[in-house]
Amino acid sequence: MESDVQKFWQKNPCGAELVGDLNDRSRAEYEAFFARYDEYRYTKEAHILDCLDAVAFDGKRVLEIGLGQGADGEQIVRRGGFYSGVDLTDEATERTRMRLTLKNLPFERIERASALKLPFDDNSFDIVFSHGVLHHIPDIKTAQKEIARVLRRDGKLVAMLYAKWSMNYLASIFVFRRLGLLAMYFLGIKADGIYGDHLANAKKAGIWKYLSMDNFINVSTDGAFNPYSKVYGTAEVRADFPDFEISKTGKYFMYAPPLPVSRLPLASLLGWHLWAELKPKGS
Ligand SMILES: C[S@@+](CC[C@H](N)C(=O)[O-])C[C@H]1O[C@@H](n2cnc3c(N)ncnc32)[C@H](O)[C@@H]1O
Repeated sequence: MESDVQKFWQKNPCGAELVGDLNDRSRAEYEAFFARYDEYRYTKEAHILDCLDAVAFDGKRVLEIGLGQGADGEQIVRRGGFYSGVDLTDEATERTRMRLTLKNLPFERIERASALKLPFDDNSFDIVFSHGVLHHIPDIKTAQKEIARVLRRDGKLVAMLYAKWSMNYLASIFVFRRLGLLAMYFLGIKADGIYGDHLANAKKAGIWKYLSMDNFINVSTDGAFNPYSKVYGTAEVRADFPDFEISKTGKYFMYAPPLPVSRLPLASLLGWHLWAELKPKGS
């Protein structure tokens, strides 16, 4: 299963398709890509910068797990963190290393590695940061054990997980998108893009199997071919992170396509991004 996850993210470097991916690997192309990616990310999800400001990174040893385009890694370094990062794919590690190098920003180690087997000694970090990643790891119990191992006893894990108690999960994914696909399927409506991908997938897997929530949650987050996603409330966090206790949570980002919810002032109640701060149990 981890090899499916790895193949998917190597082929779909997180968020690149939203702004137009790199055309080549020249310095100018990287610089232009990082600029348009960051502009898009921190405009659409402006809360990320506020959430990062609320974490005291300065002077701390920080490990990021799951790097994407390295955008938050840059923000952590700019906030004074001594930064290391790992990602399952060569693509994300290369992009993050390139980003920091081109901008003359310091880092310790950036390596291709899995959260299931972190290449660091026990008690190496003050903070482990992971945005939008841990909900894509099927064997999360092993990953959380590894995170607890590399964290100092007085350290913390700061993670963004997809929120179960959100408009996106409860209304859009659970109800509207499933009904929409069902209607398109039985009415024989043709479609391109993501809807076309869903229809083709549903034909291959069988419509009822495809729409079962065990499957539909995967393909309704991060693209129609995403092999694994899970949604979290505090009960699921407690169950999946047994070596930790929750010290703080907050929800952000009204997002529930195709529903036009971005302006509703309900993010703290029904937002899609659950930020959780966890500390090792007994610390
Ligand atoms: C949705 S992207 C998030 C990237 C970035 N943190 C962001 O917010 O844009 C998920 C990233 O996690 C990485 N990933 C998935 N499973 C992983 C694992 N077991 N260990 C390390 N990285 C993993 C993927 O390769 C991908 O780069």
